[in-house]
Amino acid sequence: MTTVNSRTTGRVLVVGGYGAVGSTVTDTLAEWLPGHVVPAGRDEVKARRLGGVRVDVGDPDGFREVLDELGDVSVVALCVEPEDAGLARICLERGIHLVDVGATHRLLDEVTSLHEMAAGAGATAVLSVGVAPGLTNLLARRVNDAVGGAERIDLTVLLGAGERHGTDAVRWTVAGLGEPVTARARRVPLPGFGVRTAHPFPFSDQHTLRRTLGVPEVTTRLCLDSRSLTASLFTLRRTGLLRGARGARQQQLLTRVFSRVHLGGDGFAVRADAYRGERHATLSLTGKGQSRATSLVAAHVVRTLFMQDVPAGVHHLDQMAALADLPEQLAAHGITAAD
Ligand SMILES: NC(=O)c1ccc[n+]([C@@H]2O[C@H](COP(=O)([O-])OP(=O)(O)OC[C@H]3O[C@@H](n4cnc5c(N)ncnc54)[C@H](OP(=O)(O)O)[C@@H]3O)[C@@H](O)[C@H]2O)c1
Repeated sequence: MTTVNSRTTGRVLVVGGYGAVGSTVTDTLAEWLPGHVVPAGRDEVKARRLGGVRVDVGDPDGFREVLDELGDVSVVALCVEPEDAGLARICLERGIHLVDVGATHRLLDEVTSLHEMAAGAGATAVLSVGVAPGLTNLLARRVNDAVGGAERIDLTVLLGAGERHGTDAVRWTVAGLGEPVTARARRVPLPGFGVRTAHPFPFSDQHTLRRTLGVPEVTTRLCLDSRSLTASLFTLRRTGLLRGARGARQQQLLTRVFSRVHLGGDGFAVRADAYRGERHATLSLTGKGQSRATSLVAAHVVRTLFMQDVPAGVHHLDQMAALADLPEQLAAHGITAAD
């Protein structure tokens, strides 16, 4: 297997570095890798105030110039979703590692197609970084192993409706309500939240895990801590009002409402269930603040890229042996396993 050497020099460019996810990535890495972190975003004043630089992921030429000017970026942590894989390509062809918290299957697939190029350039991209995808991938891998190769995996995600989720994450979630689904809702016990009705939702993990684990059927479902809000949202989805071009305006409206209204707590939970014949295995994790948890996962991945030899190429979190014990490492941050 090709490996890259550990990188103990160079800097981490945190794109989206003062957003809900990116700000904790920036702060955590500033503590772990002092002097190595450069936050970035479109607002030059905000970025410079934090010692960072202006970057717009929609401007590839500008991004190249920033990399040239900084000169020593060894890792880019992408904490905002770009339109396509252009920015990933720019990083990987220069041998710069990439950590991507994105959750859109199409985009992750586009980055995955850069595997050979990345491997040739000695760069590593880690995708499926966060809670879902992310922790769900790691739990899925464990329950799959526990049943000796699952025929089916069910993943469940509960998010706190009272958390101040970032605008980009809210936009992504609302857009997901406009996508068609075929699987059914399911009643699932979640640690600290009782039995909840969770609805199929287009998280990327269910697609990538079919390939990375070779499991034929994987479904991810979502619910919020507020039962009434969960019921209202998925009733709204069934009306079809959020679909297609017609639904774009409604989606914008809903994104604005969810960015301002916070009804509920900030706890989250993820659960994975694997089935093979009579065999069943389940694992759950729970904690406070999904943005914070996503940031901590991303920060751990970046630190691993800095400190350890890892395989070059494009990998999902569940394919990274060096990060297999991440759930245990997160216990120190209040993210704990539960039955
Ligand atoms: N894997 C997971 O479990 C998981 C969990 C949560 C979130 N996420 C993903 O993480 C991403 C960030 O979420 P968030 O909650 O942190 O959102 P957020 O609070 O809106 O943060 C986004 C950040 O990116 C910057 N930004 C926006 N557009 C940009 C552009 N074109 N170029 C450069 N920077 C730009 C924003 O600042 P400016 O507007 O000033 O540029 C802001 O700092 C989302 O894509 C979300 O889907 C993944």
